[in-house]
Amino acid sequence: MNTIKNLTYLFLTILLLPQCTPEQTPNNQNKTNTKSTLLDEHSFAKSDAITKHLKLNLTADFDKKTLTGYARYKIQNQNATKIIFDTKDLNITSVTLERDQKTGFKLGAKDDHLGQPLEIDILPTTKEVTIYYATNPTSEAVQWLTPQQTADKKHPFLFTQGQAILTRTWIPCQDSPGIRMSYDADITVPKDLMAVMSASNPTEKSADGKYHFEMKQPIPPYLIAMAIGDLEFGEIGAHTGIYAEPSMLKKSLYEFGDTEKMLVAAEEMYGKYLWDRYDIIVLPPSFPFGGMENPRLTFATPTVIAGDRSLTSLIAHELAHSWSGNLVTNATWNDFWLNEGFTVYFERRIMEKLYGAEYAEMLSLLGYQDLEADVNDLESHDTHLHLNLAGRNPDDGMTDIAYEKGYFFLKLLEEKVGREKFDKWLSNYFKEHAFKTINTKQFIEYLTESLIKPNNVEVDIAEWVYGPGIPNNCPKVISDRFNLVDAAVEQVETGSAATIKTRAWSPHEWLHFIRHLPTDLSEAKMKEIDNAFTFSKSTNCEIQAAWYEVSIKNGYFKNNLADIEKFLIVVGRRKFLTPLYRAFKESGNLETGRAIYAKAKGNYHAISVQTMDGLLGVE
Ligand code: BES
Ligand code: ZN
Repeated sequence: MNTIKNLTYLFLTILLLPQCTPEQTPNNQNKTNTKSTLLDEHSFAKSDAITKHLKLNLTADFDKKTLTGYARYKIQNQNATKIIFDTKDLNITSVTLERDQKTGFKLGAKDDHLGQPLEIDILPTTKEVTIYYATNPTSEAVQWLTPQQTADKKHPFLFTQGQAILTRTWIPCQDSPGIRMSYDADITVPKDLMAVMSASNPTEKSADGKYHFEMKQPIPPYLIAMAIGDLEFGEIGAHTGIYAEPSMLKKSLYEFGDTEKMLVAAEEMYGKYLWDRYDIIVLPPSFPFGGMENPRLTFATPTVIAGDRSLTSLIAHELAHSWSGNLVTNATWNDFWLNEGFTVYFERRIMEKLYGAEYAEMLSLLGYQDLEADVNDLESHDTHLHLNLAGRNPDDGMTDIAYEKGYFFLKLLEEKVGREKFDKWLSNYFKEHAFKTINTKQFIEYLTESLIKPNNVEVDIAEWVYGPGIPNNCPKVISDRFNLVDAAVEQVETGSAATIKTRAWSPHEWLHFIRHLPTDLSEAKMKEIDNAFTFSKSTNCEIQAAWYEVSIKNGYFKNNLADIEKFLIVVGRRKFLTPLYRAFKESGNLETGRAIYAKAKGNYHAISVQTMDGLLGVE
């Protein structure tokens, strides 16, 4: 099969890129689309016919755990006689051209990560292709939740997660970030539930369980998303609102009450918001990420609802993706840092504008700590900004390197040219690349011509982008507030935990505190700290996760195992699961970790299951 793939690739490369080496693709939208796909190792969809609009028609059956219907595509066809789609774990029943002409199709051999190419016979004149299909209960993007797994425990729930290459597990599509299409959808769900998508959304349930959606702007397939549940809508501001289960709505509206202000701040800095509305859906806690930037409708974990608005940088982050990622999109998953590094930079600028420099500095310093940890843990070649993920799951490249090394590279550029020039440059970058994809090579060319040369900046771009680790000229962040916390950590070691002054500490300071506790604290000292600050019973997920990790690492977990277990069973957010299960494994307590996992696994989304199965060596 790989041979077929390679031959197809070779053939098309010769056909379409006669004088280009990889990455020398010109910055032209239509051509970029064709060629970016050709260069994307994570998509089979290398053909001369490209999807431009999707009409999706699906019915959700919660008993059978299937979505059934069709995906109808308008295609841009350059005389092709074949069109190739990505699929994984789908049952394709038939394919038609121009509505009702049946045509031949063939599913290629299976690849563990990529799934199967679906090759459809078309005519050089074909403009429309319809694929009739159904998903399987195991389709990885989709999590079907029982009422018990929701906040209100009354109705089932469904959500999808497309990034990076899972949209193909619920929609046959040309699943490369280099492809863009608009879409509309007709979705039928049980009458007591509401469906929402990364598109125009209803604010009330329909009487017949039928919903229509439109996404008029062209987006890459990884941003097509859907959720179905007992949802209610509440307004934050004129352009912003929340979808949540009834019992979560009020809390969520309070927690994310500054969202409209964030939107205004973002627009003031980097140009108009081009997606009309910005809403957030608060999902059940098994959602494998903190947030996902599905256009018009960010998908968010309920674990950030801390009650004190302390974790809302997540919303600033997902909102920022409306520019970096959704408007200007990484061409392949090797260029993931272009999505995430820019977004972290933008996120921190929003937070600074709303809550001040001190706040943003704390976030940056915590980010720097994450970066250092990843640089220590990862193999050197995985610490480059530009990655080579050929033959690997793109998930392997989705580490803090893209986020934090990316952030610090942009921060360095900002410091070199000054904020005013940098902001102008960044606004222009978004404007000039809106609704386009960009790869690392193209980005460096753009950066060199539009910022580096005009300002005579001296910076070794290659060292940052193609080299390992943290370059020496990485900007240093100083946080006075964290310096005070460092002093408190020392006091705790030598004196009593109860006497340190912590009254006005934010959760970020607490997080810094926990992260800097020595790893060899005695059980008595751990108990003293836990009694003084009740970390084991914290309601802030970041504090819980950090404290549980220390507890596991130094053996204190025997005192709070019930709390850790409860957390691991309810929360499916991979960012928290990975360090906790890893701590069990690396501290010689693998069996304890496995026993908890056996109870929790049924609650996790396939994305988290895949990572934890690998980590804990279970199938
Ligand atoms: N786009 C990512 C989530 C993602 C990354 C999904 C890679 C699939 C593959 C999202 O914007 C994100 O970065 N979420 C973070 C939160 C953020 C505040 C750093 C998360 O989920 O933890
Ligand atoms: Zn992100």
